[in-house]
Order: sequence, then structure tokens, then C-alpha cells
Amino acid sequence: MIVARTRQELATGLAQLRSRGRQALVPTMGYLHEGHLSLVDRARSLADVVTVSIFVNPLQFGPGEDLERYPRDEAGDLALLEAGGAHLIFAPHVKEMYLDGEPRITVDPGRGGDVLCGAWRPGHFRGVLTVVARLFGLFRPAAAVFGRKDFQQLVLIRRMVRDLELDVEVDAAPTVREEDGLAMSSRNAYLSRDGRAQAPELHRALSGLVERFRRGERDTAGLLAGLRRHLEVAPLLTLQYAEIVDAETLEPVERALPGSVAALAAQCGDTRLIDNEELSAVQGGVGA
Ligand code: PAJ
Repeated sequence: MIVARTRQELATGLAQLRSRGRQALVPTMGYLHEGHLSLVDRARSLADVVTVSIFVNPLQFGPGEDLERYPRDEAGDLALLEAGGAHLIFAPHVKEMYLDGEPRITVDPGRGGDVLCGAWRPGHFRGVLTVVARLFGLFRPAAAVFGRKDFQQLVLIRRMVRDLELDVEVDAAPTVREEDGLAMSSRNAYLSRDGRAQAPELHRALSGLVERFRRGERDTAGLLAGLRRHLEVAPLLTLQYAEIVDAETLEPVERALPGSVAALAAQCGDTRLIDNEELSAVQGGVGA
């Protein structure tokens, strides 16, 4: 497994691997867990060469967010990636990634960057799209894999690829969960013991909503009121938003449809948790 820290090392590594065939990229911020590794598995099934970036991207963190304390364990990450069959890892320093400082030209996510998480994290999705576009430029991958757990991010990246005619196949991986349903996240490491015990209620509340949708409830206000009621069992969780949105536009819908997505974010102490579920009329889900 090649570990590149500079653009030069990345270019040399990619040139060495080129003859092996198609490349799939998995962008990450490190502190890897099974969710990330499931993306590496998918990348292996999509392509001959699997590349991974590990880069905590300052552009996507707002003032007062957790940039400085974002968890890191590079040695652990590299061991997991080697065992997972990745071929090349790019783990650059911030100065190597942003050679000329903050980029002057950035990717505007449009309205989809202002809703849901974007309303709580101004500038976040501009930072995400800008770094992902830059990674696509540096790696030139045939495919890139992203998790459904960050649903809004996935939708905006797909939109960017379409609107800017970037020649990359975007693949979406299902959310990997702990046994109690909590979506795996590097940020789960911040949770207190009590917070960790209550955090799975987010997914239980979402699952309850999905179940009521299956039984025929379609009114968004009613579905979301039920979700909020459920979360009263978890006083340590403060809901930032819970919405049912169109899966393409991310705009709220009044009546839920199969394929609509229920998404939420909650604060648990100083940890921010997100989750979402696609609504489906049948057990197992549309495109589950
Ligand atoms: P990060 O949070 O490290 O996530 C990297 C990738 O792993 C994303 O595509 C994310 O959706 C996916 N992922 C995280 N938790 C997952 C889970 N439980 N199940 C399945 N997939 C999961 O997302 C980012 O980094 C950054 O914004 C990035 C795209 C790298 C740009 O900086």
C-alpha cells in the first residue's frame, strides 16, 4: 500500500498503479470505522485500484466547530486500510492540500447547501464540495464512493458532478450502524456514557416514522410529530431539525412519498449527530 503525503508522491503513486486499471476513490477525514471500511469494500468491487484520502478539511468547519479536536489516529487508519485492501492513501498536510492558502474559487452548492444541515452549518457544504472537487482533480478517479449516512452531502456531490460535468461515477453506500442502531460516526467517540446510551433513540425514532409511513400515514406534520414525541424519552438529545424531504431537491414535502427521505440532526452534549432513512412502502425499502 502506497502512502503519499505530497502531490508529487500522489502523482507518482497513481502513475505506478495506472496500468492495473480503473480507480475508485474513497474520500475521508480519517478516524476510520466500519462505515468507512464498507466504502472501501464497495470501491474494491467497482474498480481495480482503490484509493483513499485522509484529510480533515478546515474549509468545511465553521467557527466554534470541532476542527481542532476532530479525532485522529493515522497509524490505526493505515493499518485498517491495508487490511481492507486499499492500494494508495493520500494523507496530506493542510498546507500541501491548500498550497496557495484558502482557495479563491469555491463550489457554490446552491439552495441545497442552505437547507437541513446547511442551515445550521453555514458554508459547510461549500467547503465539502470544494475539497471533493479538488480531490477529483488530484486523483482523476473513474468512480468515488460516499455514504448515505451523510445524505445531503451525497445529494450535493451528485448534483455537482452532474452540473459541472465532472466525469466521475458516484456510488452510494448504505449506512453502517452499531448493534443498537446508532449510525457509526467518528464523532461518536465524543459521546458521554449517558449520551451514548440515549443516542440510539434517534434511529429508533426514525424507524418508528418509517413504520408509520409503511402503514399508510403520509402527512409529514403527523409523521414528524410522532418522531418528536418518541424523542422525549431521550432528554440529552436536542433536535436541531427533523424533516421529510424530496430526495433530489432536498425541499420539504407536505405529503411523504416512497423515496422521500426523513432526515434529522441532534445535539447530544457538544456532539452533533445526524441520521436519515429513506421512506418505502414495503419492508426492506426502495433501493435499500
Ligand atoms: P467522513 O465523515 O470521514 O466520511 C467519509 C465517508 O464515509 C463519507 O462518504 C461518509 O458518508 C461515509 N460514512 C461515514 N459514516 C458512515 C456510516 N456509518 N456508514 C456508511 N458510510 C459512512 O464525509 C466526510 O468525511 C467529508 O465531508 C469528506 C467527504 C471526506 C470531505 O471532506
